[in-house]
Amino acid sequence: MAETRKWVEPDPKRENWFWPTDELRERAWAADPKIYEEAAADPLAFWAKRAEEISWFRRWDKVYEEEPYAFRWFLGGKLNLSYNSLDRHVEAGRGDKVALIWEPEPPDEPNRILTYKELLAEVSRLANALKSLGVKKGDRVGIYLPMIPEAIVAMQAVVRIGAVHSVVFSAFSAEALRDRMLDCEAKVLITADGYYRRGKLVSLKPNADKGIAGTKVEKVIVVRRAGNEVPWNEGRDIWYHEITKDQPAECPPEEMDAEDLAFILYTSGTTGKPKGVMHTTGGYAVQAYTTCKWDFNLHEDDVHWCTADVGWITGHTYINYGPLMNGVTTVVYEGSPDYPDYGRMWATIQKHKVTVYYTAPTAIRMHVKWGEDWPKKYDLSSLRVLGTVGEPINEEAWLWYFKHIGGERCPIIDTWWQTETGATCVEALPGIGPFIPTVAGRPFPGIRAKILDAGGQPVPPGEGGYLVLEPPFPPSLLRGLWGDPEKYKATYFGEYGPRYYFTRDGARMDEVGNIRITGRVDDVMNVAGHRLATAEVEDALTQHPLVSEVAVVSRPDEVKGEVPIAFALLKAGAQPSDELKRELIKTVDQHIGPTARPAEIYFVEDLPKTRSGKIMRRVLKALVRGEPVGDVTTLRNPESVDHLKELVGYEG
Ligand code: WTA
Repeated sequence: MAETRKWVEPDPKRENWFWPTDELRERAWAADPKIYEEAAADPLAFWAKRAEEISWFRRWDKVYEEEPYAFRWFLGGKLNLSYNSLDRHVEAGRGDKVALIWEPEPPDEPNRILTYKELLAEVSRLANALKSLGVKKGDRVGIYLPMIPEAIVAMQAVVRIGAVHSVVFSAFSAEALRDRMLDCEAKVLITADGYYRRGKLVSLKPNADKGIAGTKVEKVIVVRRAGNEVPWNEGRDIWYHEITKDQPAECPPEEMDAEDLAFILYTSGTTGKPKGVMHTTGGYAVQAYTTCKWDFNLHEDDVHWCTADVGWITGHTYINYGPLMNGVTTVVYEGSPDYPDYGRMWATIQKHKVTVYYTAPTAIRMHVKWGEDWPKKYDLSSLRVLGTVGEPINEEAWLWYFKHIGGERCPIIDTWWQTETGATCVEALPGIGPFIPTVAGRPFPGIRAKILDAGGQPVPPGEGGYLVLEPPFPPSLLRGLWGDPEKYKATYFGEYGPRYYFTRDGARMDEVGNIRITGRVDDVMNVAGHRLATAEVEDALTQHPLVSEVAVVSRPDEVKGEVPIAFALLKAGAQPSDELKRELIKTVDQHIGPTARPAEIYFVEDLPKTRSGKIMRRVLKALVRGEPVGDVTTLRNPESVDHLKELVGYEG
């Protein structure tokens, strides 16, 4: 029977505040709040100490260096992410420890379980296979894989030989794949025949084929997962099991410079074109390792389950590199949380005795809707720490998660971070607390954050403003945008200059430094945990031949956090219809993927515009949110707003 002791206790004075128990403090890596002051006094010494816990082929000469718009960590240090994730545990005699548990979606299919030794051998075989295809240090390799063990194997194999992975979410469309493959000029793509989702077989290979047409991809390695028939291009396509079969199970890890590129991950900015966020090796390794260890208080016996997809940064850092560098067991689940029923996640926790569960507020809200009878059916007493990420969590969802999943025993670690930061930056630490619904917590030790007003002045405690990070910048913060140094500067260091990294999030901070995130301040949405620009959805919709102009804004949604709402102006002669709505949804599916589908499409005759012809999205946003629309007299066509009010049933 797993332990059911309480790890947290309520604050006697403040409702819904919780603190770690003495026992949790004793077990915690960071239990003394003094660590914050110590780290703040000398952040470089703090991070250097953390860096000593991972393995280096050569120690760094200098911890940190900075100039405007550029900074470097662990200069001169040499290491390898895959060596740190695998070899070092095997060399320490922990080769038989379970590294990865794969839970396939079909409930009757057996789990795949890989020890550190087995995972290392598998990674080495694929690494050798990639070399045999001519992949060299610095080359880009695309990964378009579902949630199967090979997704982890592929990322590890790529970084093992010093190549650079760019993972694309498997539910993204062929076109989204192509944009990314074109931009990063990948030479090889690793994909699969298909996978299972909600009980259905989803074919992936045809998408991959379409997605690489016209790109520089020369070879495609295909994992056989679902056994479905797939189109085949002789000479270009190779089965994973065939190319790895005769490869040696040893492959020496490439000695990477701390500042060598490790991976590129595309994410949404404010324009229609995704940005290739660049992460380097040393700083990323240190912060991914440390935050995973401290946030979730990882020990030798932990079974860590992060429910994100490997296509997102959360999957990169907290399914793959973070847990594996810490030598714990990581769980990879293939499918949907409601298959075969609403209890799947809880059944899986019970089955594998999961101790750390890390998910998104949108998922929690879905479970709230499905009801607490589902988790009640299962033994969740193995859980010690719960985590959330991706968007602000509302109090109701937090308390439900705390009570019905954590049994009022487990701390909830609400981690704020971004694709750009590579690893968590703001959260309460399990051994220190406090754990407060809707409040993420303090900046991680060694990280400096401030809340500024629009003019760049710090705002007083409790007041709203913009969240920025200050030097020394976090070790795992992005080093650039692939192929676009100007955009990198403008996006992150434009508003406040090179002294501050602008997160583009609104926030407030209390006297102690606890931060509450209020959400994005730009046109980026968080839709069911997926980061998406309104401009991307607009770009997709305007590809439809009958659409003349379109504006997309976000609206809060009870379950998904936010959803896109579209206002479409049709070309002359085109008639609005439900059929056309369905076609538009299909267009979005084709260009981005189903995650980007608008929750509502309004056909309009006019869009509110400024005198210079810019669409006033602010007005549309207010309309769909029922907020005050404000002054519209400066618009070129103020009368359009009245029509829109009627259309959306505005009662603001
Ligand atoms: C939001 C996901 C509130 C925020 C790791 C950020 C959050 C964006 C939190 C990054 C949180 C992430 N509380 N908001 N705990 N975590 N966000 O790049 O707006 O997919 O800027 O990275 O998600 O989304 P991304």
